[in-house]
Amino acid sequence: MHVKSTLAVRGVATLALCLAVSLPAAAGEAKTTYPVDKESGLIMAPGWEMVNQQCNACHSSKLVAQNSGNREVWRGTLQWMIDTQGLWDLSETWEPVLKYLSTYYGDAEIDMTTFRRLPLSKDQLPPSRAALEGK
Ligand code: HEC
Repeated sequence: MHVKSTLAVRGVATLALCLAVSLPAAAGEAKTTYPVDKESGLIMAPGWEMVNQQCNACHSSKLVAQNSGNREVWRGTLQWMIDTQGLWDLSETWEPVLKYLSTYYGDAEIDMTTFRRLPLSKDQLPPSRAALEGK
């Protein structure tokens, strides 16, 4: 009886240890950190090649990495480039590009290994060029 209960206790202890070890590991999987590509400044997470290929043509991809927003903010930014700056229709890459941007450059996902501080909020920004030109 004594031996049996010791084994039972050991069994429970082992189970608890397994849980303690595996839980943080599982939590870690959900928050995988990806390296940052030195050249483009982009987080090398799934979908980054699509952004690297399409978002370097007119400006540096570092401009991408400096911005953040949820899916709607990114959709609006891209749509503005399509409507006014000659960006092509992203067709089948819309979804993966939006997913990548809103996941890795979401509101709270600024890569602080590349940038020293969070971007300024709108009310802290210098006046826009249009405002300075009195438009
Ligand atoms: C056809 C040209 C072109 C391509 C390709 C392009 N952009 Fe832009 N983008 C622009 C221009 C022009 C601006 C304004 C640049 C400036 O203000 O100096 C801009 C600005 C931006 C900004 C800053 C917006 C802001 O609020 O200041 C972000 C972010 C951005 N682009 C992301 C992207 C992403 C992501 C892609 C790839 C899907 C992309 N761009 C591809 C032309 C382009």
